[in-house]
Amino acid sequence: MPPQLRVYVPDHPLIKHWLGVARDVNTPGVLFKTAMSELGRWLTYEATRYWFPTLETTVNSPLAVCNATLINPQVPIAVIPILRAGLSLLDGAQTVLPVASIYHLGLVRDEETLENSCYLNKLPEKFAPNTQIIILEPMLATGGSIMRAMEEIAQREADISLVRIISVVAAPPALQQLNTHYPSLNVYTAIIDEGINEQGYIVPGLGDAGDRAFGT
Ligand code: URA
Repeated sequence: MPPQLRVYVPDHPLIKHWLGVARDVNTPGVLFKTAMSELGRWLTYEATRYWFPTLETTVNSPLAVCNATLINPQVPIAVIPILRAGLSLLDGAQTVLPVASIYHLGLVRDEETLENSCYLNKLPEKFAPNTQIIILEPMLATGGSIMRAMEEIAQREADISLVRIISVVAAPPALQQLNTHYPSLNVYTAIIDEGINEQGYIVPGLGDAGDRAFGT
């Protein structure tokens, strides 16, 4: 059977709560930022829950030597926030993965053509083998920005099966494109919404995540 994109929607009361807060048009900017940060935290937690590079070792407790499972320091962890909106998930993700390297990728969408262009690219020339990659992109809408980001990441020798996308709201057009081009990817999202409108916004969605997070 051909590989198929895996999309996880964790059934977690905190994720549902903060999604509800983020969706509410009456939520003030400061609380919206908190909601996105919390979603970044809990979705990253869920994304690392079942598979992550650990090693078995021993440590000395104050009383005795005992077995310990630790994050393997030899395996690089890369977190890639897609600017602007992806920044709103970053501090939450970093509370879960403080040792990760952060590679900023700045993409901007032309509101008329809906085409994306890259204005900042801090990705490495190539990713070391086995690098665990976590992309922060809260809104998977038309798929334009995530497909552009995936192009940049794939051409740097990333193992796509080790790439996890953290999103808050995902819509079918983006998920379909990812499934067609990168079926071994893993997506973690708080919800899958019905679709997008003519302006490329997810409905019901939560509006413009970047504008709401940064108040601009
Ligand atoms: N980007 C956003 O911020 N919101 C959407 O609904 C779609 C893309």
